[in-house]
Amino acid sequence: MAAFFLTARDSCGQAAAEYRTRSEAAKQWPRQAVRGAKAMVATDEEVGSKAGVEILQRGGNAVDAAVAVAFALAVVEPAAGNIGGGGFMLVRLADGRTSFLDYREVAPGAATRDMYIKPDGKLDKEASVIGYKSVAVPGTVAGLELALKTYGTMKLAEVMEPAIRLAENGFAVSEKLAGELQREKNTLERFPISRRIFLNDGKMWKAEETLKQPELAATLKRIARNGAEEFYSGETARMVVADVAKSGGLITLEDLAAYKPKVREVLRAKYESGAHEWEVLTSPPPSSGGVAIIEALNMLKDVPLKSWDDVESVHMVAETMRRVFADRAAYLADPDYSNVPVAGLTASCYAKELAGTIDVQRATSSKEVHAGKPHACGAVAAGAGPSTLVSLGEGPHTTHFSVVDAAGNAVASTYTLNDSYGSHVTSTAGFLLNDEMDDFTTQPGVPNALFGLVQSDANAIAPGHRPLSSMTPTILLRDGKLSFVTGSPGGPTIISATLLSVINWMRLGMDAQAAINAPRFHHQWLPDQIFMEDDFPESTQKALEARGFTVKRRGHIGLVNAIGIDAKTGERLGAADPRDKGSAVGY
Ligand code: DON
Repeated sequence: MAAFFLTARDSCGQAAAEYRTRSEAAKQWPRQAVRGAKAMVATDEEVGSKAGVEILQRGGNAVDAAVAVAFALAVVEPAAGNIGGGGFMLVRLADGRTSFLDYREVAPGAATRDMYIKPDGKLDKEASVIGYKSVAVPGTVAGLELALKTYGTMKLAEVMEPAIRLAENGFAVSEKLAGELQREKNTLERFPISRRIFLNDGKMWKAEETLKQPELAATLKRIARNGAEEFYSGETARMVVADVAKSGGLITLEDLAAYKPKVREVLRAKYESGAHEWEVLTSPPPSSGGVAIIEALNMLKDVPLKSWDDVESVHMVAETMRRVFADRAAYLADPDYSNVPVAGLTASCYAKELAGTIDVQRATSSKEVHAGKPHACGAVAAGAGPSTLVSLGEGPHTTHFSVVDAAGNAVASTYTLNDSYGSHVTSTAGFLLNDEMDDFTTQPGVPNALFGLVQSDANAIAPGHRPLSSMTPTILLRDGKLSFVTGSPGGPTIISATLLSVINWMRLGMDAQAAINAPRFHHQWLPDQIFMEDDFPESTQKALEARGFTVKRRGHIGLVNAIGIDAKTGERLGAADPRDKGSAVGY
């Protein structure tokens, strides 16, 4: 009989007591992806996926649908879907054009390096995650408008219709949402508007009750009418700033007016596998994930990977993750303000050198692994950056969705409030505000509050800087054609969950749903442990321990909502993550 898994909370905020073991739950999981002849939307919430399909069926393209999904999830998935946060959108159009939209939040103008340090020199662990002081300048609305204007075909007001309807008329509270709100009660009730809206004025929401959000509906309508300008310099901006001024936050009207989303070059790398040529399109900094995924895939290029029942395959991937995370901690930061050695970190000759440090029989101790000296092929190695610690956090939330339309345009998007329900503060304009400030190095040498990340000085708090992120929307091409759209929430585990989905599809040739259902593991250098989902067999754990690994069991790692393309029929294969009731809807 499978053991009952006990931990405070799993990687995305689900209390352990809420589920039996994943082994038991996994028996009920779908084995087959949802097939659609034309188009597919995969998100955390069925209503969110349906909002995307509605827009596609009205003639919108994948970007129109993605923007509709993002606004709809801001209503129905308040833990992570947002207009008060930020994120990334990776677009690959059927004509081959690609783009990475960075609408990550930035630190307000009055932010300082030591703003979370108390007079006694210690880190104020609450201030960077709860309440107004933890809020960075939101980027979502500007990013979504930019995506729509650049690659969409519909008007903002049209794609926002489903979201406005869901906010105004309400939607049926799911058991998942009711449970989540119950768990967040103690923090949400500290903020009167959060308490009124999300805790039903203290009465708490029950499954199947209708949650209406009239203030949010009004805000969405103003945005639909006036565009992103409404959010950054209109009535919404004034409402947010008035709240902030009363409550010790930093964001000003100038901060909002100055916010700019950025279009960045997509990171790309080519591989050969299964007699096909693959291209990985992924996220550049300020995501740390794309660099990590390419570095890892490069290191694994010549490693025979068989399956996750095979201890050697797990060993090699875990050792790869260990090294990639050591580099992440040392080198990754906002590329507009730091010189991130992307070319060196993603160079195949550097990967070969790093792979050569792996002992194929024994676990390496993380004490012996330091950030490498990344260098482009033929170039002289640069000096290593400061070696710093990354440790695993528990309990936060973020959401990833994927869209493919009938023409073959594809969107992978991950966006977040950082923690589940962000700062837990709801503005008078009816939406939750992020606590993304905690993704900065809040105090050099001391773990940040949410993920226990001790990161490099390059990620220190400074006005206008973007905090380092792990979000990694990723798209794969097979022989030049769209093949797989993926990404995940999960803090640092985003990188492992996304990497494993890519390996499962590209290297192991799994079916789309199997690639998502397959058990996941994560190693992030420090702490020196492999985190393994709890349905890995006992025998794998024993074999890894015999090789010197410390194994820690864990509930869920990541929530990957992916779409594969059937190479023979061209059908869209919607593979939502059953770990937390993801939903793929297609036609
Ligand atoms: O950008 C990041 O890396 C974090 N703010 C993401 C947080 C997260 O994924 C929490 N998820 N479960």
